[in-house]
Amino acid sequence: MLILHLSDIHFSAPDCKSPEDDPETPIRRLLINSALRQAGLLNRKIDAIAITGDIANSADPDEYAAALTWLDEMINQFGLSRSDVMVVPGNHDISRSACKSESVRSVHNSLKSTGSAIADEFKRKAKDTESAAFLMRPLAAYNQFAANFQCEISLPMAQRWKRRWELGDSVELCVYGLTSTFLSQCNGDNDQKGQLFVSPNQLVFDPIDNVIYMSMCHHPPSWFSDERTVEEEIRNGAHIQLFGHEHWLKPESYPQSIRLCAGSLNPSRREAGYDPGFSLIGLDVETTGTTRWLKVSMWSYRLQPSPRKFILNPMDDDESAFTRTFLVRGQGPSPSEADEKTIREQSPQNGVLDVPLLGSIPFASKSNNEAIRDALSAEDAYDIYMTMPVKQSIEIASALDLRGADDFLLSSLDQCRRVWERARDRGMTSKLISAIQDHQEGA
Ligand SMILES: [Fe+2]
Repeated sequence: MLILHLSDIHFSAPDCKSPEDDPETPIRRLLINSALRQAGLLNRKIDAIAITGDIANSADPDEYAAALTWLDEMINQFGLSRSDVMVVPGNHDISRSACKSESVRSVHNSLKSTGSAIADEFKRKAKDTESAAFLMRPLAAYNQFAANFQCEISLPMAQRWKRRWELGDSVELCVYGLTSTFLSQCNGDNDQKGQLFVSPNQLVFDPIDNVIYMSMCHHPPSWFSDERTVEEEIRNGAHIQLFGHEHWLKPESYPQSIRLCAGSLNPSRREAGYDPGFSLIGLDVETTGTTRWLKVSMWSYRLQPSPRKFILNPMDDDESAFTRTFLVRGQGPSPSEADEKTIREQSPQNGVLDVPLLGSIPFASKSNNEAIRDALSAEDAYDIYMTMPVKQSIEIASALDLRGADDFLLSSLDQCRRVWERARDRGMTSKLISAIQDHQEGA
């Protein structure tokens, strides 16, 4: 699966009402052509479009009409349909004038004044018909636009939307579109970090077998009043996290997930470091026996001023893509064939790290008669290793000859990752897990 990730497009009235006179039209045209070309160079086809907010600039219906026309042209060229588009709202999709109305201000300020009790108060207001209507009013124009893609939201129950995609080999991608803007533009003012709110109901990611979760949210966690909770829930629940808002195109890696932040397709020309960009995200299931791996690749593209075109932005170590590979929780389709040898032969190379997620998948089946203990899963072993004292993690790695000469130059977290990477490349993952288990049991 290949996803085109866009964000912060900022269709602005009145310019957008006349596309031939809109200074942003050439960049938007270039995006469509470049995305098609780059997908072709990757020998892939774009399967979905994910937009992490700020489609409009001031939530004007004319801005959404222009955005819809542009997106229809894009999906037509990509051979997609509107059901292949996923959108979440950003702060620019909130009507500032609606937020200045007395009724909306009253609900917003009442919620903000509750402090740590905001989740309970939000739940109460979301159930109250009148308060819910006031909370939804600033989102009215956006919601009408989002309904074209079945991404509309409502209170109290549909605060986020869900979309499912088949990735192959019984692995499913479950995308949650989060709404981070219920308190955005409070009193008509610009948002400040630490002032927004996303309800706990939106942060539930049920760790069921065969499912990889992806979240889409405009604001990164630092913008929420309960930043720590949001950060922890999203990091632990969503394997892949897409964010927008900060106009900073970058991938971030965590022990159990990755965060892909989008650049802005159309930042303000007055913005310091004006840097239009977009990303392509590849999701590929690679099966070895009973084990399924999801390889996530991110290619990012930046606008070159002259000649004006989007060019590939090199990622880690000048590789063309940022890549991470996850184990998929659950049993794969062919339980009799798995052993670590096939994993070694067929799993992704090029220094990609296998990060166990949410599951209890052994790296080898019991049919190969290897002495694998039931208790310690790959996920548990990984978690234990990444959090044990550095001295002990080095001892385990040294005993298995999994240390590199330059490892001392890396952070302790990166040293641990490199050890797992070498273990997989050398077909020693089971030995590493076993050594970690021995350590746990005091052997
Ligand atoms: Fe934004």
